[in-house]
Amino acid sequence: MMILPIGSGKGGVGKSLLATNLSIALAEAGKKVVLVDLDLGASNAHTMLGIRGVNKGIGTFLSVPRTGIDEIILPTEYDGLSFVAGDAEVPGTAILKNAQKKRLVRCLESLTFDIMVLDLGPGAGANALDFFLLGTGGIVVTTPALTSMLNAYLFLKNVVFRALYATVDLRSRAFAVLEDLRRDRAGGLQRASVPRILETIAREDPEGHALLTHALERLRPRLVLNMVEDPADAEKGEKLRASVRGYLGIDISYLGVIFRDELQSVALGSRIPILRYKPECVLSRGLYRIAEKLLSAPGDEPHGAPWSNGTSPGPEAEAEEDFKGMRRDLEDLLNSGALGLADLVESVRTQQIELSTLRRENALLRARLEHRAREDSRS
Ligand SMILES: Nc1ncnc2c1ncn2[C@@H]1O[C@H](COP(=O)(O)OP(=O)(O)OP(=O)(O)O)[C@@H](O)[C@H]1O
Ligand SMILES: [Mg+2]
Repeated sequence: MMILPIGSGKGGVGKSLLATNLSIALAEAGKKVVLVDLDLGASNAHTMLGIRGVNKGIGTFLSVPRTGIDEIILPTEYDGLSFVAGDAEVPGTAILKNAQKKRLVRCLESLTFDIMVLDLGPGAGANALDFFLLGTGGIVVTTPALTSMLNAYLFLKNVVFRALYATVDLRSRAFAVLEDLRRDRAGGLQRASVPRILETIAREDPEGHALLTHALERLRPRLVLNMVEDPADAEKGEKLRASVRGYLGIDISYLGVIFRDELQSVALGSRIPILRYKPECVLSRGLYRIAEKLLSAPGDEPHGAPWSNGTSPGPEAEAEEDFKGMRRDLEDLLNSGALGLADLVESVRTQQIELSTLRRENALLRARLEHRAREDSRS
């Protein structure tokens, strides 16, 4: 079974949207898929799937004795797709005891679907990290915003250290090296790059080093850049990939970009997944493209690049193509009369208001910076 956990550093970046729609796309491609909502405490994948009121889920499994995992698997209206709801409004589900987590993971791993998609909660908490490490190719979602990119990097950093600590023998020299760095008041573990740390371990504990290197080689997270508005943003994914390679010592595979699409809020309002609401829109196109890449490169892609065999043009070219498609759609709407002059005037007006708000914010930030610089030069 291919396990596909979907995590993020920051909340609200599109994990649940990706998890639900990707599950539908993979089921449409003929796979037996189960989507599991593991955002315990804030479960909402059922809303995106269009399921009203769930009365059983992981919350029930954990709190009602002798509930089997089979009993909480729900059918959906999509052929080939089953669903396991999250907390099912059972209070306290988010606070998992270790033994509960182990039992849950064991039961999930014993299921026999082709693909299991895990919708995780945001951030690098212990639960999210442990669920993300199920399977070796979890998907990290980020938007192009600076804070979101930074959080994605920090999330991956936490994933790497969680994997290192889960692998290392507690009595080994390798463990002692990690612990020395962690205790270092000057922030040794924060500052040192993972390749550097591994070099130190290689000198002191070659056996431990081999184990850790192997664990990191197996780790092949994937990256999705969501809510893109400018095709030029696509290269941010490549930059993140390079930083992760350099500082964290692992390869991530950049699955591609998904544009922000206003149609999503309409689809969500009608409780219809966007793939069904508008399979042709730019958002659905991005989602289908990612599903295809996952199916054509199920995990062991060389150097993490599914398009390296020349079958796919890569995220930057895809983003350009999507953008051109959106402009064509706009032209079509204008030519057919579906969009009139009044709509354009309204759009321009809204954008002007946004621009002037940004200008005001920018002036305020500049004033603060100047004030700070003056204070610094005085002291
Ligand atoms: N590409 C997109 N275009 C337009 N809207 C989007 C897009 N991606 C996500 N959204 C919207 O953004 C909001 C957040 O998405 P979603 O709930 O999937 O994020 P999340 O990462 O699961 O959040 P959380 O961390 O709270 O679980 C939702 O309203 C969703 O419909
Ligand atoms: Mg979510």
